[in-house]
Amino acid sequence: MMNHSQPTGADYNYTVVRQFALTTVLWGIVGMAVGVLIAAQLIWPALNFDTPWLTYSRLRPLHTNAVIFAFGTSALFATSYYVVQRTCQTRLFAPKLAAFTFWGWQAIILSAAISLPLGFTSGKEYAELEWPIDIAITVVWVAYAVVFFGTIIKRTTSHIYVANWFFGAFIITVAVLHIVNSMAIPVSAMKSYSIYAGAVDAMVQWWYGHNAVGFLLTAGFLGMMYYFVPKQAERPVYSYRLSIVHFWALIALYIWAGPHHLHYTALPDWTQSLGMVMSLILFAPSWGGMINGIMTLSGAWHKLRTDPILRFLIVSLSFYGMSTFEGPMMSIKTVNALSHYTDWTVGHVHSGALGWVAMVSIGSLYHLIPVLFNQGRMYSNNLVNVHFWLATIGTVLYIVSMWISGVMQGLMWRAVNSDGTLTYSFVESIEASYPFYFVRFLGGAFFLFGMFLMAYNVIKTVKAPEGSLKKVEA
Ligand code: HEM
Ligand code: HEM
Repeated sequence: MMNHSQPTGADYNYTVVRQFALTTVLWGIVGMAVGVLIAAQLIWPALNFDTPWLTYSRLRPLHTNAVIFAFGTSALFATSYYVVQRTCQTRLFAPKLAAFTFWGWQAIILSAAISLPLGFTSGKEYAELEWPIDIAITVVWVAYAVVFFGTIIKRTTSHIYVANWFFGAFIITVAVLHIVNSMAIPVSAMKSYSIYAGAVDAMVQWWYGHNAVGFLLTAGFLGMMYYFVPKQAERPVYSYRLSIVHFWALIALYIWAGPHHLHYTALPDWTQSLGMVMSLILFAPSWGGMINGIMTLSGAWHKLRTDPILRFLIVSLSFYGMSTFEGPMMSIKTVNALSHYTDWTVGHVHSGALGWVAMVSIGSLYHLIPVLFNQGRMYSNNLVNVHFWLATIGTVLYIVSMWISGVMQGLMWRAVNSDGTLTYSFVESIEASYPFYFVRFLGGAFFLFGMFLMAYNVIKTVKAPEGSLKKVEA
């Protein structure tokens, strides 16, 4: 395969990878801490201290932006820059531009962290940032694409490893989604109005929203999975052919599924049905990816007993399988009639977000950080293990409580007496939800505590004298 001598570790640009890897942990803690705070506010509303910038309505988008674009996207930057160099056997293209993407992205995160609590928002979910920040995102993203695809072009290997296909699809699609959905007419320095109106605006927004899930929260992290699962398991990918089939099927289908967010709305009925059908078919490639990842462990299952990093990766795939089974079910119109507006959606979101996105990132970082800092392993394997259990139990507490409260809310809202009046008032359904909100808060606190352990373990690993942490053979 190789037409050059193999470069060594010193031949790669790890600086930008290290920066993004470390900031992933930092932003993970910040984003999840805000998550725990808003979970607490839903139980104890006084926690907004009557301060406008601490109100739930401003902190909720801060949470979603911080976990998706600061934590998740930093993890994607770190791993894509690492994987593309290692699998293309070449240094990153345009190192100055790569450094620009790091500092530019941090500046964008900071401007989001300031402007959202101040109340500046375009009102579009996951695309709340105002137009000057949107332009900055476009510039940094195009620079990212240049660095990534430039590296692919100058590769010294003959083929392009499948992880890069997923990263590439994620980078291109997020650019298109962001540019199209953010089209707006500015009316002042921090206020703009969407160029789309009415049902078209809603359709464009959920085409964006769903594909942000499909390409950012899914395709990008599948790229991560396709590199780090085989590496950590020390086994080749189960089926290269399946990886290609599921790649093309996934990207061909995701793009049509957006209308399942708009069932029973002013959107034309056939569009809703099309979104539902495409979502149902999407189950197949999603599970193809999950099976490919999990089966990579064939012949290496025993490693799960001793390797908590591998456990993070494999359990993340199980959550991926769960949420991609649940999603198609929720896109069936009659099921959505029950689940929409309830906590069931929030439970589904976090089985994907905590169980899949966060856990696959955490597992990958535990593999990556020792390599980046010339160590054989993390400072403490026991702490990785404790983190694994905190994250798993935290996720389960979160999603189970939301399922129960979601289904309960849906049933309470539709319950009618024999004379046709509603059985329950809305407030009664909120009261009934409190115990579940408390369990969710606990689950979130577990998950966050695990992130603090990770930060401690990472700092100890980074600070240890180079090469002093030796790999322990299982
Ligand atoms: C085959 C895959 C999937 C399908 C078909 C699917 C389908 C759905 C459906 C039907 C909803 C509810 C829409 C509503 O009632 O408003 C939803 C919401 C959501 N899903 Fe999924 N889902 C899938 C996988 C995932 C994964 C893996 C993640 C995360 C990593 C995820 C993240 C979300 C988010 C963030 C929302 C909430 C959007 C909002 O209303 O703000 N989904 N999904
Ligand atoms: C400690 C961990 C976390 C806690 C306690 C937490 C808590 C919350 C809470 C309370 C909400 C608002 C729910 C509502 O309005 O009813 C929320 C929304 C959301 N969170 Fe988290 N979260 C956590 C981690 C994450 C992570 C890691 C991600 C993504 C990678 C994420 C993505 C989201 C999304 C997309 C929504 C919006 C859901 C929707 O609109 O349906 N969260 N979270």
